[in-house]
Amino acid sequence: MKLVLKIWRQKDAADRGRLVRYEVDGLSPDMSFLEVLDVLNERLTAAGDEPVAFDHDCREGICGACGVVIDGTAHGPQKATTTCQLHLRHFADGQTVTVEPWRARAFPVVKDLVVDRGALDRIIEAGGYITAPTGSAPEAHATPVPKPAADRAFEAAACIGCGACVAACPNGSAMLFTAAKATHLGTLPQGEPERLPRAAAMAAAQDAEGFGGCTNTGECTAVCPKAIPLEVIGSLNRDALEATLRLG
Ligand code: SF4
Ligand code: FES
Repeated sequence: MKLVLKIWRQKDAADRGRLVRYEVDGLSPDMSFLEVLDVLNERLTAAGDEPVAFDHDCREGICGACGVVIDGTAHGPQKATTTCQLHLRHFADGQTVTVEPWRARAFPVVKDLVVDRGALDRIIEAGGYITAPTGSAPEAHATPVPKPAADRAFEAAACIGCGACVAACPNGSAMLFTAAKATHLGTLPQGEPERLPRAAAMAAAQDAEGFGGCTNTGECTAVCPKAIPLEVIGSLNRDALEATLRLG
């Protein structure tokens, strides 16, 4: 099959950037969207042209590196699917597809489809961890975890830090990401003691990085490849408010 790709090309952060049209044929419906970019890049390289820069690592929907905006939707048209797991069978032969990088103030474009998502790492640095004394691993059953808490933590822990929620949000908010991380840790007994200061610190870091505020539009959860529920944002807001009232 064949696709007509209109891909955002931008030399560096200072370049204005533009969409460039490419026709890519000889594709299989079983190829992933990243493999289409691979094919295009092989042909560009063979022709002596600059290949399209894009981020990727696992290609299994795990690492969160690969996101791009496909026809206006973060990670493309398939629900709960990362760009690397999006297959061509979901596109029509000959379809024109527009491919752009994440667009958000806190995610500056580095080159072509690659953005700097370091702001998410700095939110984690602000509190996305559990303080624990070092030493040998504790006995597995020493800290019982109730099943509902384990399930909730597991659901939130599915966040892969891809940033699609930010790209889809009209406010450029990272609240779904931040709340998923805070909920994952704060729901477990090991993370509960730091739940309030963690929520306050991570929410403050989110604001300091230039992400927008959440107005509950729900675009984030609609594009999230791991279907993180909007409800976690309520939990984070409650914990951040409680932290302000109790800890000052
Ligand atoms: S909440 Fe979903 S969309 Fe946002 S970073 Fe995590 S996995 Fe990606
Ligand atoms: S390359 Fe790792 S999630 Fe897509």
